[in-house]
Amino acid sequence: MSCTRPPSPPRNVIFNINESSLFLEWSPPSDMGGRKDLTYNVMCKKCGAEPRDCELCGEGMRFIPRHVGLTNSSVTVLDFVAHANYTFEIESLNAVSEFSSFPRPVTAITITTDQAGPSLIGMVRKDWASQNSIALSWQEHEQPSPAILDYEIKYYEKEHEELSYSSTRSKAASVIITGLKPTTKYVFHIRARSAAGYSSYSPRYEYETSDETSDMAADQGQVLVIATAAVGGFALLVILTLFFLITGRCQWYIKAKMKSEEKRRTHFQNGHIRFPGIKTYVDPDTYEDPTQAVHEFAKEIDPSTIRIERVIGAGEFGEVCSGRLKSPGKREIPVAIKTLKGGYVDRQRRDFLREASIMGQFDHPNIIRLEGVVTKSRPVMIVVEYMENGSLDTFLRKHDGHFTVIQLVGMLRGIASGMKYLSDMGYVHRDLAARNILVNSNLVCKVSDFGLSRVLEDDPEAAYTTSGGKIPIRWTAPEAIAYRKFSSASDIWSYGIVMWEVMSYGERPYWEMSNQDVILSIEEGYRLPAPMGCPMTLHQLMLQCWQKERSHRPTFTELVSFLDKLIRNPSSLQTLVEDVQGFPESPGDVPEYPLFISIGDWLDSIKMSQYKNNFMASGFTTLDCVSRMSIDDVRRIGVTLIGHQRRIVSSIQTLRLQMMHLQENGFHV
Ligand code: ADE
Repeated sequence: MSCTRPPSPPRNVIFNINESSLFLEWSPPSDMGGRKDLTYNVMCKKCGAEPRDCELCGEGMRFIPRHVGLTNSSVTVLDFVAHANYTFEIESLNAVSEFSSFPRPVTAITITTDQAGPSLIGMVRKDWASQNSIALSWQEHEQPSPAILDYEIKYYEKEHEELSYSSTRSKAASVIITGLKPTTKYVFHIRARSAAGYSSYSPRYEYETSDETSDMAADQGQVLVIATAAVGGFALLVILTLFFLITGRCQWYIKAKMKSEEKRRTHFQNGHIRFPGIKTYVDPDTYEDPTQAVHEFAKEIDPSTIRIERVIGAGEFGEVCSGRLKSPGKREIPVAIKTLKGGYVDRQRRDFLREASIMGQFDHPNIIRLEGVVTKSRPVMIVVEYMENGSLDTFLRKHDGHFTVIQLVGMLRGIASGMKYLSDMGYVHRDLAARNILVNSNLVCKVSDFGLSRVLEDDPEAAYTTSGGKIPIRWTAPEAIAYRKFSSASDIWSYGIVMWEVMSYGERPYWEMSNQDVILSIEEGYRLPAPMGCPMTLHQLMLQCWQKERSHRPTFTELVSFLDKLIRNPSSLQTLVEDVQGFPESPGDVPEYPLFISIGDWLDSIKMSQYKNNFMASGFTTLDCVSRMSIDDVRRIGVTLIGHQRRIVSSIQTLRLQMMHLQENGFHV
């Protein structure tokens, strides 16, 4: 091999300050040193008025994808402060650079963030504190300062200083932070964001939440004041109401109020950390420029490092392919590549990349990992880890009956763990279904598909469109269908349906019942019966997930720990629903099922009325007789299709439980 040398410096560095990010780009060196292993390091110095007055930028500044070992000739810098001079030194390197005694091949660029950034905010005051909340407000600094887009409030428990922190955003110069621990000291730092970037963080402010007793004392002290105020307030209210009614201003007021409430709700849902100490997902739509969100959360991949091998499916925006990714310095890995088909409009590109902006914020073994995106060349692509066994529903249908109950519970545990992580991050999936879960060669299940929520929000009618598959009615909680109340509790409902899909090896929930019938049956109290071979405990768990009252459903944390216990103690899985002799000990109340009066009613409810004559002709004329039938009886009376046998046997098991429940409660059946 001939001798090689370090590369020459990078050339033509340009920059672009865009909102709160600074984009640096350069051309590769003219001399690569006879090698192909070129990388770049970017060093940042923050300088004062005097050029010699410089210090390293420190950890407050973020580089996307990173500041050393860059393989692309660009980097995005976040979290810089306004009114400062920065010098960025970009160095070219290759594997022989460390042996060189020549000066480092560096190109420097100095950038002033002076013009437009917001100033530091003024003093931060505590307005009030309760056991779990603290209200803060502050003053914007004097002019000149550009328009403030919002404020970022970073906070953490003083005792766990900087171990982990939470952050939330507020558009106003005040915030109420909830979900805090009582009698705990918190540290707050606040900074402003304008189109030109962030201000520096404010100095630290320490405020403590109150304890129970002080809340009570304060309450008592306030009773008198409140009572007096209430009388005065009531009189004022009557006068004002009369005034508004007379002047016709009420409607204006109500509309304004609804608007501000809607805004408040979005703000808290999108920006607020619900569990201090755990990072929160940031809705990419809170970014004015969606490209910025993508680059903040996803790595730009050089398309020459991707090898597309074959088409494996069709996504909403274009083909899904499998292939290989060979990132520099890493071993080649199999990947799935989602492509955006040509001829797209801006909005489609944004919707397509939204998924990457969401996925890029997650890091969990049961959530599909984002490798990166290709946005600077065509086709636009999202590259994710490859899951050899494809989607869970197809995989289970292909391997009907092949797994042990423990293996199935293991898969369910993985999905619950991924969902717990999402729920802790404040992310609501809205489209959890076995078709949106992928399985790898080790049978590990990972939650995927983070695209639906915005589609629904943009088009409320889509909630009821079945043709476009916009809302998955049979996976969705009744309150989410009825009034779009999506929450982690509605995800729990969907998770219960996924449990049912897994335990029935990919059977379609509610079979071919129409969506309208599903909605009505659920409203009447009907719930899916236990799949054949399903342990009693697991069906009980499903029923818990399908409690009408959402606060009665378990949380993902509870599900994970319950499934863990089942896995550690598999004997609890031995009781199958079909073996049940007595009514089981349930973790809660079994929901009420509709009581069927006749065989015809019952068969209608499971869409199996075509077998009514088979039952009658074979002497199974009462529900009591039917509830004692075995799978062999069902076959003997002429139900030959496996899917139909399953459905009927599943429903018979539920019927049997009902009968026993009624008998136990003194009814004569
Ligand atoms: N289909 C869609 N995404 C996939 C992935 N990550 N792996 C395998 N098949 C897929």
